Amino acid sequence: MAKILVTDGMDAKAAAALRELGHEVVEEFYAPEVLAEKVKNADAMVVRSATKVPAAILDSAAEAGQLKVVIRAGVGVDNIDCVHAKEVGIAVRNTPAASSSAVAELALAHMFAVARHISAANVTMCNGEWNKKAYKGVELSGKTLGLIGFGRIARSLAGKASALGMKVIYTDIVGKFEGYDEYQYMEKEDILKNADFVSLHIPYIKEMGATIAADEIAMMKDGSYLINCARGGVVDEAALVDALKSGKLAGAAVDVFEKEPTPNAELINLSNVSCTPHIGASTKEAQARIGEEIVSIIKEYF
Ligand code: MLT
Repeated sequence: MAKILVTDGMDAKAAAALRELGHEVVEEFYAPEVLAEKVKNADAMVVRSATKVPAAILDSAAEAGQLKVVIRAGVGVDNIDCVHAKEVGIAVRNTPAASSSAVAELALAHMFAVARHISAANVTMCNGEWNKKAYKGVELSGKTLGLIGFGRIARSLAGKASALGMKVIYTDIVGKFEGYDEYQYMEKEDILKNADFVSLHIPYIKEMGATIAADEIAMMKDGSYLINCARGGVVDEAALVDALKSGKLAGAAVDVFEKEPTPNAELINLSNVSCTPHIGASTKEAQARIGEEIVSIIKEYF
């Protein structure tokens, strides 16, 4: 039976199911140097975003020859050196569909939060203030939502936004999608120029850098909103802070940061920012679905 390291937590039912199958499940977060040792006698490893799996960890595992698969409990595999994993013969798997609805709902929640100043109103009320006149917001209904990236999460958000009376426009690296004629496909520049809310649904690719930096923000409508529940790094945080301070952007929502936990106190303390600590996939339902997918992946290998 397999020894499975679960370093960033996992749904309790899934862990129990794996144990019932006879596997040894070790649920513990390790510092990188400790992890490099622990992977030597593990058969599988399950990570979320906190654990980084660079070449050094994979080399250590490959040298010992036991680790078969690294499973990303989630969508983005940017914390795993997938190219190197392939080179050393360790499989990398993820759970691409399980959290779409959870992330889409968080993006929508953030859109409401920035549109209606919910974070600032909440914080100032806790400080004893009653700033009724300061928080005149905008409605989502009738506004245009621009989606950058049109994968499962974006498509789920498109449906929800549409039901609220938003016009949805989208762009994607692969071009126009068949079967989604209710939404209008545009080039990225046109999305930036036309959307009242821009929501990002793209992976972070280090070599490409930030997809939204100062030049892209300059193209956005004055007083528009930027939502990032995708990946830290796809937005240049310094440029975002400038745009929020100058009023170019009316607000921004940030669930994912260039560095996590984020040291960017300036960004998260702006009154027109709604922020959360990378909780897009953190719903009971999504974690249960992710857990089920992990159990079936483990069954494939062991
Ligand atoms: C994802 O890529 O699905 C999320 O980042 C999952 C997570 O929160 O770990």
